Amino acid sequence: MPRKMVVIFGASNVLWMVFAVSQAFKIDIFPESKIIAQIGDSISLTCSTTGSFSKDPEIHLSGPLEVGKPVTVTCLVPDVYPFERLEIELLKGNRSLKTQNFLEVSEMKSQETKSLEVTFTPIDEDIGKALVCQATLHINEIDSQPQVRETTKKLQVYISPKDTVISVNPSTSLQEGDSVTMTCTSEGLPAPQIFWSKKLDSGNLQLLSENATLTLIAMRMEDSGIYVCEGVNPVGKDRKEVKLIVQEKMFTVEISPGSEIAAQIGDSVVLTCDVTGCESPSFSWRTQIDSPLNGKVRSEGSKSTLTLSPVRFENEHFYLCTVTCGHKKLEKGIHVELYSFLRDPEIEMSGLLVSGNPVTVSCKVPDVYPFDRLEIELLKGESIMKNKIFLEDVSKKSLETKSLEMTFIPTTEDTGKVLVCLAKLPIDEMEFEPKQRQSTQILYVNVAPGDTTISVSPSSILEEGRSVNMTCSSDGLPAPKILWSRLLSNGDLQPLSENTTLTLTSTKMEDSGIYVCEGINQVGISRKEVELIIQVAPKDIRLTAFPSESVKEGDTVIISCTCGNVPQTLIILKKKAGSGYIVLKSTDGAYTIHRAQLEDAGVYECESKNEVGLQLRSITLDVKGRESNKHYFSPELLVLYCASSLIIPAIGMIIYFARKANMKGSYSLVEAQKSKV
Ligand SMILES: *[C@@H]1O[C@H](CO)[C@@H](O)[C@H](O)[C@H]1NC(C)=O
Ligand SMILES: *[C@@H]1O[C@H](CO)[C@@H](O)[C@H](O)[C@H]1NC(C)=O
Ligand SMILES: *[C@@H]1O[C@H](CO)[C@@H](O)[C@H](O)[C@H]1NC(C)=O
Ligand SMILES: *[C@@H]1O[C@H](CO)[C@@H](O)[C@H](O)[C@H]1NC(C)=O
Repeated sequence: MPRKMVVIFGASNVLWMVFAVSQAFKIDIFPESKIIAQIGDSISLTCSTTGSFSKDPEIHLSGPLEVGKPVTVTCLVPDVYPFERLEIELLKGNRSLKTQNFLEVSEMKSQETKSLEVTFTPIDEDIGKALVCQATLHINEIDSQPQVRETTKKLQVYISPKDTVISVNPSTSLQEGDSVTMTCTSEGLPAPQIFWSKKLDSGNLQLLSENATLTLIAMRMEDSGIYVCEGVNPVGKDRKEVKLIVQEKMFTVEISPGSEIAAQIGDSVVLTCDVTGCESPSFSWRTQIDSPLNGKVRSEGSKSTLTLSPVRFENEHFYLCTVTCGHKKLEKGIHVELYSFLRDPEIEMSGLLVSGNPVTVSCKVPDVYPFDRLEIELLKGESIMKNKIFLEDVSKKSLETKSLEMTFIPTTEDTGKVLVCLAKLPIDEMEFEPKQRQSTQILYVNVAPGDTTISVSPSSILEEGRSVNMTCSSDGLPAPKILWSRLLSNGDLQPLSENTTLTLTSTKMEDSGIYVCEGINQVGISRKEVELIIQVAPKDIRLTAFPSESVKEGDTVIISCTCGNVPQTLIILKKKAGSGYIVLKSTDGAYTIHRAQLEDAGVYECESKNEVGLQLRSITLDVKGRESNKHYFSPELLVLYCASSLIIPAIGMIIYFARKANMKGSYSLVEAQKSKV
């Protein structure tokens, strides 16, 4: 390159020289004693030139200019004559490096080449400066300007490559199949070109790239070695080495989902054996005890799966995946543990909750496995009522239902509290959801009906035609429903109303009877009865003497009182004695006088009364005397309830006597029967 520049300078100087030569002719137009003719010029001219200074100086360097390296500059003035007048000056920038005059007289009239040499050490600041070689030819004889020729050369300073640096990404230590990128930089002027090579075993370099960045992909072990980067520019080269080590890649086996898996019975479980770093691995699966796999194996590429679907007790094993890659073998294991905890616990009560009645709560955990780790807890509100751990032997693999039972006596305060059944199934440290399940039930405690009361307004004994309100109340939880019924003679109940108040308007005697109020809720019945008596005031009392009110001494007389239509009437049969009465002992309203005496004559009275009224009847018995047959009379007391049940025997007796006496009409049978209804 420096040579090229010289050529360029030289070419441009040709034109300049032509101009300079033509000027010289003008100067040497006068005839002189000494004729100095330039050799090679035309001499057909009469005038001659003043000197020979035909060419520009040439600048030569001993080598490329390098900062810090001494260089010798030669300034050469070719074909000069006469050289005793020559002065050569070498300048760097505006500073003169050296000046030399060639003072020796030239004996031979010949052109000579003269030169000046300077040695200097370029520094950074020299870059861009110009080196100027100036040749001056002083021609004294002619009073003329000296001839000057100069050549300028721009200082082309070089810096040899240095500070060559290699960066390696990711690392100089690699594994088979990896890629690496190496970048090399080198300082210098002009910028060095980078060459990447690999050092061969022979020590020779094998060129790889002329790029600063060298990327090696899918490396193999053979790619290990020393890589050389060279920064090269015209003034030098700098090299750096890096050692790459490619290691044999170890293949790895991963088993997923981990070293253990807790699987729910019935689910689908997929065990995956994954190989990296092996191109064509071969797989085999087994259980640790070499039992059947009970699953489906599928191997493809670097993956093999064992699918256990549905996972069953037979799958509770330690499974091993063996991978063979070339001559190497690796094995990874996974422990498959099973559990079953599919459903929430079930709370069951032995019956409805009734305050004060013991109840048994059971909390069942259905289809659970393994139950040796099961814990069931029964809580009422925040407090634990009972808990149970099932430590039984679980060598038997089966789903079982486990339960916890407890009996307690509920109180009304328990209403609203929450009964919680909590089941926990911890399977070691394994994470699976849910580890616990719970069920809740809000307690509602019932109270059986009780304290049933009936209030009757105005009274339970009434006069026919009046109205009555019978009101019933009963306590219990939930509030009992009221049911009013009437008790029939056969013992059955005839439902009447579900209202709390049973109203009977304008009562009749037939409304008399027993009324039943029942307080009813889910957990019981409370019953209360009231007897309603509808009465009429006594009326139609009959008092008769049989066979007649007028008898003879010694006859048998029956004094009979019947109470007409009014049942439940107290009948009192009495005989007037002086200012008072003697109450007679009668049977069914009849008083029999056997062999009547004179003293039996008198006023007989029948009094019938009840809560609603009173009626009196009286007859006078006349006893006619006979001579003999006097009998002692001892009246007996009688109190009779003219109850309907007593009427029949009373009637029967009347009929009996009527037949015996062959008498008719003393008593109306029809009427008597009516009163019984
Ligand atoms: C150096 O010389 C150049 C011409 O060769 C001129 O332009 C420049 O001004 C000079 N510099 C100094 C500092 O004398
Ligand atoms: C050098 O690298 C550049 C960019 O990374 C790329 O464009 C160029 O082609 C490469 N040259 C050679 C000779 O590899
Ligand atoms: C029965 O109850 C009704 C309604 O409360 C009332 O109007 C009536 O007077 C009551 N009757 C009796 C006899 O108390
Ligand atoms: C219950 O009471 C309501 C009004 O209080 C009344 O309309 C209804 O007839 C009553 N039912 C019976 C069976 O008495």
